[in-house]
Amino acid sequence: MNVLWISAHPDQRSLNAALRDEGLRALTEQGHEYQLSDLYAMHWNPVVGHEDYGHDPADRLLVAGESAAALAEGRLSDDILAEQAKITWADAVVVQFPLWWYGMPAILKGWFDRVFVKGFAYGVADSSGKVLRYGEGNLAGKRALAVITVGGRESTFSPRGVNGDLEQVLFPLQHGTFWYAGLAPLPPLVFHSADRMREAEFATATKELRRRLETLDTAEPVPFRSQNGGDYDEDLVLRPELAAGRTGLEIHTR
Ligand SMILES: Cc1cc2nc3c(=O)[nH]c(=O)nc-3n(C[C@H](O)[C@H](O)[C@H](O)COP(=O)(O)O)c2cc1C
Repeated sequence: MNVLWISAHPDQRSLNAALRDEGLRALTEQGHEYQLSDLYAMHWNPVVGHEDYGHDPADRLLVAGESAAALAEGRLSDDILAEQAKITWADAVVVQFPLWWYGMPAILKGWFDRVFVKGFAYGVADSSGKVLRYGEGNLAGKRALAVITVGGRESTFSPRGVNGDLEQVLFPLQHGTFWYAGLAPLPPLVFHSADRMREAEFATATKELRRRLETLDTAEPVPFRSQNGGDYDEDLVLRPELAAGRTGLEIHTR
């Protein structure tokens, strides 16, 4: 497989860097090709701006529309185009980061903001005009694996844990970003108590990482519902007979 590995950690001596290096070694040993976007090392600019779209700074910037026009007219800035080319090349994307304030580091959020533009990752329609999202779209057919280190213990992210159910904490990435853009999200690989990891635990973590990479192309994705598969009505509300009487984020999983 062709794998794009996105990594977002500022320190090359961190746990995240060690896991990344181990993961890349494993991919090579397993016969995969990879490209790496090490966002801090690349000095990735996470801030959307007029220059991204060859746009006059004096004009009002309507980000979604301007980015779609720039994509269509070949005016997107080179750093964005380079990342999009890597995604187009890839069969799977690994997104690796430490959990910071319940989300991804800002540099990585800014990678999604600038690279996943309208017309590339969303805002595409089929020939009948139906908008393709949540399981469909340009990126459908590709897989996504989030590899995340978190400070909290496993119990604190369990369904009744004080940090909240980790599946729900990761909903914005897994459902709102990967799945929205058509990428099939695999169950995330999460390393808990990451600030207190000792050598023996690191050895176990790398084993688990290798095992998950081995099944990158065969593992069952999270069974999110597709938007246009019939589960939602014309207002995009889940039909009452499905997950009857229930609400909350988990109803969007079959
Ligand atoms: C700014 C910041 C915010 C953090 N927010 C969280 C959080 O919301 N939940 C959590 O469990 N850990 C949180 N942590 C702990 C990190 O996830 C942890 O330090 C990291 O995963 C360890 O990996 P590293 O050694 O590669 O940095 C935070 C750490 C920092 C520095």
